[in-house]
Amino acid sequence: MQPESHLDATYWQQRYAIGQTGWDTGSVTPPLREYFVQLGHPDDRRILIPGAGRAYEAEYLYNAGWKNVLVADVAPEPLHDLQTRVPGFPVDHLLQQDFFTLEPTPPYDLLVEQTFFCALDPVLRPAYAQQCALLLRPGGTLVGLLFDTTFSQPGPPFGGSAEEYRTYFAPYFDFVHFAPATNSITPRQGRELFICLRRK
Ligand SMILES: C[S@@+](CC[C@H](N)C(=O)[O-])C[C@H]1O[C@@H](n2cnc3c(N)ncnc32)[C@H](O)[C@@H]1O
Repeated sequence: MQPESHLDATYWQQRYAIGQTGWDTGSVTPPLREYFVQLGHPDDRRILIPGAGRAYEAEYLYNAGWKNVLVADVAPEPLHDLQTRVPGFPVDHLLQQDFFTLEPTPPYDLLVEQTFFCALDPVLRPAYAQQCALLLRPGGTLVGLLFDTTFSQPGPPFGGSAEEYRTYFAPYFDFVHFAPATNSITPRQGRELFICLRRK
């Protein structure tokens, strides 16, 4: 099956241009903030946030001292927004690029997922898991949140279930944590999984 071709850079840029960005939480969400805090002292780990949007996770990490943080998005507007909010953020860490064309040169230590997986046409889910695996070094981590719910409106966002997602990630990852999030933002409470997967 081919992915829905209308969910391209033009579509996403238009959503930003007209302010239809209901996914945008305006700051790093509590589950990811807590995860970042327990990482401890910043080091030179190479971190990628794909489908980053305005990338509040990158802002948080960069301001906390993590300097090897890269963000990727097909839409230019949210990357400019990050640049404006965080003028010191290295321009060459802003990748206006399709996630599926990114290369592991060098491989990443950590990938951060926040409402990117649910924005993709579901036929791309196996390819998403495979691409995450390609980008991470063995032992590297994919951390983030996945919706564990269905949506009544046609997507994006596209929903799904833990059982479904397991099948995509199991070939490449060990499951360190894969359970309902306990500290979601209010509208997402009881509707998302916190995942922490280790690249085999
Ligand atoms: C629902 S938004 C989430 C943005 C951000 N992660 C957040 O939580 O605010 C999905 C984002 O993925 C980006 N996107 C969609 N398809 C992409 C692709 N193939 N490669 C990179 N970015 C993509 C969109 O431009 C959009 O910014």
